[in-house]
Amino acid sequence: MPVCVGATAMQRMAHPDGEMATARATRAAGTGMMLSSWATSTIEEVRSSAGDGLLWMQLYIYKDRDLTLSLVRRAEEAGYKAIFVTVDTPYLGKRRDDVRNRFKLPPHLKMTNFGSAELAFSSAEGYGEDSGLAVYVAQAIDPTLCWEHIAWLKKNTLLPVVVKGVLRAEDALEALIHGVDGILVSNHGARQLDGVPATLDVLSEVVSAVAGRCEVYLDGGVRRGTDVLKALALGATAVFLGRPVLWGLACQVPLCGEQGVSDVLELMRDELHLAMALAGCCSLAEVNRSLVRRPEFTSRI
Ligand SMILES: Cc1cc2nc3c(=O)[nH]c(=O)nc-3n(C[C@H](O)[C@H](O)[C@H](O)COP(=O)(O)O)c2cc1C
Repeated sequence: MPVCVGATAMQRMAHPDGEMATARATRAAGTGMMLSSWATSTIEEVRSSAGDGLLWMQLYIYKDRDLTLSLVRRAEEAGYKAIFVTVDTPYLGKRRDDVRNRFKLPPHLKMTNFGSAELAFSSAEGYGEDSGLAVYVAQAIDPTLCWEHIAWLKKNTLLPVVVKGVLRAEDALEALIHGVDGILVSNHGARQLDGVPATLDVLSEVVSAVAGRCEVYLDGGVRRGTDVLKALALGATAVFLGRPVLWGLACQVPLCGEQGVSDVLELMRDELHLAMALAGCCSLAEVNRSLVRRPEFTSRI
């Protein structure tokens, strides 16, 4: 099942069972789930919900390096299989709705992986006139994020390290130089910077630059089985879903939750099967670039 669940923060805003419901549905679908550093369920709670299911940890690099490593250690101990380090959020993008709404978590929720109210994004004083999350990021996340941080992370964990947020060949090559084990082509769901390219449009560039030296994945705008097929055909090993999982959690609350996420994943599986069958592919191994016609490719065929 090459359709995986990406990291989306604060899933208990979508459903009371949040990340734990997602973990159960992901395991049932036989795929993997990336847990956000900013989850509203702990690393350990999600492990118990997932049973022996496949989990990965998404990591933000905090100014406090020991705190950052403590998340890595907990993920290691709980049997998570990789660290996805998000490299596109040294600052939070300007999310105008969040500013308008003075976005913060409702009082019964917090980012449960952190001990203090400040780090758990549940400060009683509030966050003034701005987006609470923008204030949080400015206070806690390291804005000097650069390639040395990746090398540092590699030195400090035996887990595979995947960079999440690469959009061009130059950065893919830098990532390889700094020892990454995988690259997730992502524009953070276009939530960080206006004008970024669609991930599907830059996937080939990254895949060519990487030339098989590590796996390449894609997220952003995957909504149909045909989207999955296109990404796999252009060289992605797997794709990740962001918002569709939240919609599955949230539709018809409180009924949905786990069932809603299962429905989303099974819909994607069915659509991918159909798209593969109608494109003449009996297995994922038969999915290749010849399925996609684009001006820059057709000239080479
Ligand atoms: C509500 C929401 C929360 C997100 N939280 C995180 C996060 O905590 N960490 C992260 O690396 N990416 C986060 N993302 C980005 C997703 O991992 C992913 O890159 C993006 O949503 C994929 O696009 P899609 O929503 O179109 O499928 C979030 C996205 C959304 C919509």
